[in-house]
Amino acid sequence: MPYRSRITGTGSYAPEQVLTNFDLEKKVDTSDEWITERTGIKERRIAKDEAASDLCLEASKQALQAAGVKPADIELIIVATMSGDMPMPSTASFLQKKLGAKHAAAFDLNAACSGFLYGLSVADNFIRSGAMKTILLVGAEVMSKFIDWQDRSTCVLFGDGAGAVVLERTTGQRGILSTHLYSDGNMWDYICLPGGGSQNPPSLKTLKNKMHFVKMKGNETFKVAVRTLEKLVLDTLKKNNIKPSGLAMLIPHQANLRIIKATAERLHLPMSRVAVNLDRYGNTSSASIPIALDEVVREGKIKKGDYILLESFGAGLTWASALIKW
Ligand code: ACO
Repeated sequence: MPYRSRITGTGSYAPEQVLTNFDLEKKVDTSDEWITERTGIKERRIAKDEAASDLCLEASKQALQAAGVKPADIELIIVATMSGDMPMPSTASFLQKKLGAKHAAAFDLNAACSGFLYGLSVADNFIRSGAMKTILLVGAEVMSKFIDWQDRSTCVLFGDGAGAVVLERTTGQRGILSTHLYSDGNMWDYICLPGGGSQNPPSLKTLKNKMHFVKMKGNETFKVAVRTLEKLVLDTLKKNNIKPSGLAMLIPHQANLRIIKATAERLHLPMSRVAVNLDRYGNTSSASIPIALDEVVREGKIKKGDYILLESFGAGLTWASALIKW
């Protein structure tokens, strides 16, 4: 029997501090009404003194416990993030130390909001190839440190959080059936953080020009996202010979409720079968899918043998999907 990977444990964590739309009304020229209507977001969590690896640690402990896996059993830690502790070393290295996962290799992966699904594909392929048996994958972001809190077009959208999964080797029918990764770098400037890298190293000029904050062409991104995701979900189901009616749950990236609804409509899926938590967390980029997955698992909304579709869209531009038989 060929090897397959299966998610055997999930976990999630978000900082305690809550920032509501009403709090934001006091900071910038915006309103709860605008944010709710245009995005579906009501509040988001904001880290105080926590770094990305601190968020990873809490989510990972839960996922390991749920899977019944010890830190010493982990062979690889992948952290999907664009807001890690430091550019070097990787946030995965900090997590490896904090967990005491002494046998684990560790690296970060950056595909912005698609990071978790890119990571899922990498982990799945390591396991399918026979190279590894047990992998910890985390999506974690502290977006709040990279947001211009005077820019109403971005500061209302993002939040902080982490979600983790443990993947283990199986030879059964259940597990990750397929993953699909795409990108188009021509639209790199739709969502970017232009300062601090080798193109624009940190300087007084980059600080003055606010180049260390997320910039987004929201409306342009919105249009491409809706179009791309509709095709992505249909293609993913088709490749697996599954009809939309056969789906138990859609777990989309949590950027905008209007985008999520458009995708669900394309699949003729009632919203009761779509995971939505952006009202409570905002867009937590690579953390949004694993947080939503952990919530539906813990709420008992998915059961053994269910087909679950995960999809994301983000900076790069990147987009990705995965079909799982739970
Ligand atoms: N409060 C009040 N008004 C606002 C705010 C705000 N917070 N932000 C913008 N506006 C105004 C604009 O200035 C504009 O005013 P104007 O008409 O007078 O010029 C008006 O609202 C409409 O602005 P749009 O940008 O056209 O609004 P839109 O309906 O497109 O919603 C949003 C903006 C929510 C950003 C939406 O475009 C979106 O969700 N885009 C996709 C985001 C996404 O999917 N990103 C990918 C993942 S992120 C990642 O990878 C890191």
